Amino acid sequence: MSRYVGAIDQGTTSSRFIVFDRKGTVVSVAQEEHEQIFPKPGHVEHDPREIWKKTRKVMKKALEKADLKPKDLVAIGITNQRETTLIWDKTTGEPLHNALVWQDTRNDRLVAEFAKKGGPNRFRDVTGLPLASYFSGLKLRWLLDNVKGAREKAEAGDVLFGNIDTWLVWNLTGGAEGGLHLTDVTNASRTQLMSLETLEWDEGMLKAFDIPRAMLPKIVSSSEVYGETKVPFEGVPIAGILGDQQAALFGQTCFTPGEAKNTYGTGCFALMNTDGKPVPSSAGLVTTLAYRLDGQKPVYALEGSIAVTGSLVQWLRDNLGMIKESAEVEKLAATVEDNGGVYFVPAFSGLYAPHWNDAARGLIIGLTRYANRGHIARSVLEATAFQTKEVLEAMEKDSGIAVKELRSDGGMVANDTLMQFQADILDVPVVRPKVTETTALGAAYAAGLATGYWKDLDDLKHNWSVDHRWEPKMDTGQRKKIYAAWSRAVKRSFDWKT
Ligand code: G3P
Repeated sequence: MSRYVGAIDQGTTSSRFIVFDRKGTVVSVAQEEHEQIFPKPGHVEHDPREIWKKTRKVMKKALEKADLKPKDLVAIGITNQRETTLIWDKTTGEPLHNALVWQDTRNDRLVAEFAKKGGPNRFRDVTGLPLASYFSGLKLRWLLDNVKGAREKAEAGDVLFGNIDTWLVWNLTGGAEGGLHLTDVTNASRTQLMSLETLEWDEGMLKAFDIPRAMLPKIVSSSEVYGETKVPFEGVPIAGILGDQQAALFGQTCFTPGEAKNTYGTGCFALMNTDGKPVPSSAGLVTTLAYRLDGQKPVYALEGSIAVTGSLVQWLRDNLGMIKESAEVEKLAATVEDNGGVYFVPAFSGLYAPHWNDAARGLIIGLTRYANRGHIARSVLEATAFQTKEVLEAMEKDSGIAVKELRSDGGMVANDTLMQFQADILDVPVVRPKVTETTALGAAYAAGLATGYWKDLDDLKHNWSVDHRWEPKMDTGQRKKIYAAWSRAVKRSFDWKT
């Protein structure tokens, strides 16, 4: 009888459960969106109870759809939106506050205060990360400072911290009745509390940010049997955890140093495998964990994190009403030949890599009477490609390795106009694999490796094949001209928040 591996993909906008077979083919999928809560400018929240409820729902639904039983699953892997921070009561399982989503910038004053003392890079040596509103450590600090009673309870060990992976594992394994409290190295590497060398919580960081150790989960590898599910069905081993961008790198089988992928989702996240050594960044990237398999040495990555790409298309749809469906943006952009001189810098959460400017704000520049809706749509798509070029340039500077081709995945890879423009502006071929569900696939791979469903990394590599390849066509003069204009626009968006 055939057996499968399941993956929970808990992302920024939805939760999914996907069942894969041994070839890495999707057998069944169920998906549920959850509410995006925007209480004030710069504040972005999720309700953790809603996320847990929808996760349970999609797990059951995906099995039902393919007429499968829990025992048909060899194991489950988990992949998740990273950095999103929550705290909950250990006894009741109730969150003390909505989760602060990775895009939330409410801790920006704390960030600025810490940067005053030693600059924005003062913790890079230990954690690989610059000071920014993005990472969990200072989000957690904000919660401890602002939620009544949270600090005292956390110090007593009654309140637990977790990112979404930790929240899900705790609930899946029984919650208040003995749920496991753990996180994998890739998620931990986004908290700014873990040492990249020891892969343990760093005493100096806990002291600097004033975080009680008692509330922190145990750090584990990305691929091992952690325990078994109790809810929503019993007895399936949970055997893999990877932050979603690391999962996509793993699902794209970028196991060789220099191999890189970019995921085009809410934001864009380009990661390059840099092997067994953390490569420090001086070009504005983040040094992060790529994965650690059970009993093996860690593998590191350089990452260019971009906050707003696909969510800019959603903004065009939801806030401006310029399109009804996200997919329409391509059609609208195709009504014009080029951007007509219009550039859109979507600094809605400040700017992440390579600029790390929390006070940047979005702008549209280059408008004339000539500009129309098509040009705005085009500038929205181009913003994704320009931002990706910025982070790949930084990657080449930091690693000394030229990216030969960019493996792409995520929702926006269906957009042919964007992908062609991406190859043009990078002057590097862009490749889309047959299975584009690489994020969930990466988590399934981690769980399947731990349970012997797949033998080794070579076994996984055989599953990867090309679906489409976009070759660069733009002439050098044009590329340089429009990229220079983009760079000028970006500088104008800096330090706008008053
Ligand atoms: O760092 C944030 C990232 O993990 C979010 O990814 O795909 O859920 O928007 P996504």
